[in-house]
Amino acid sequence: MGERGILISFEGPDGAGKTSVLKVILERLKPVLGDRLLVTREPGGNNNPLAESIRDMLLSSDYPELDDRTEVLLFAAARRQHLVQTILPALADGKIVISDRYLDSSIAYQGGGREIGVEKVMSVNEFATEGVVPDYTIYFDVKPEVGIQRINSTRTNEINRLDQAEIAFHKRVSNAYLDLVAADPGRFRLINAEINFDSVVEETWQEVKTILQL
Ligand SMILES: Nc1ncnc2c1ncn2[C@@H]1O[C@H](COP(=O)(O)OP(=O)(O)O)[C@@H](O)[C@H]1O
Ligand SMILES: [Mg+2]
Repeated sequence: MGERGILISFEGPDGAGKTSVLKVILERLKPVLGDRLLVTREPGGNNNPLAESIRDMLLSSDYPELDDRTEVLLFAAARRQHLVQTILPALADGKIVISDRYLDSSIAYQGGGREIGVEKVMSVNEFATEGVVPDYTIYFDVKPEVGIQRINSTRTNEINRLDQAEIAFHKRVSNAYLDLVAADPGRFRLINAEINFDSVVEETWQEVKTILQL
């Protein structure tokens, strides 16, 4: 008690394996950490109906009119609510908080992918987060093509072919992510996420154990 917790984010392109790996890591951490562990996600957040409502809006296909900058603001609004209502109270309680995506996703997807510009998206997010950055970020490194292949192969209603615009978008996302990794090697832990699932889990587990000194 009295000691601030630790914030860890999982980041990487779609299909990198973040959510699947986190599920396994969660099962291993639960017996060790018990109530000291909080797993959450963005957009949205654990026990955060307001942020989850914004998530529903963002992921809905009902709003094709969604403007790129509105999208940035909605992600930032959800993040703000997630931070003040879920993350910061848990950290103040000394908890280990692991979030499936956080700030870097906006920089990579809206800044890089949607070409709004990394600086602009950073400044909106600086307002939203007041500079709260994860202590550690596990980056699941996959070539964009690999991630898209994995996602597409689980879709039944789509032909399994890679659309050029889709590849270009995901390349920009990946490049923006890799710039962030290069700029902050102290925060990022890089995982080769192209190898088989069990090996990705083991690599991630080693990093998490090291971070938490387990
Ligand atoms: N290392 C891996 N090798 C092969 N398939 C994987 C691997 N990691 C995840 N997958 C598969 O890829 C798909 C996307 O995984 P997911 O965990 O949802 O990725 P993310 O959360 O990063 O978008 C799932 O069908 C998952 O089973
Ligand atoms: Mg996921």
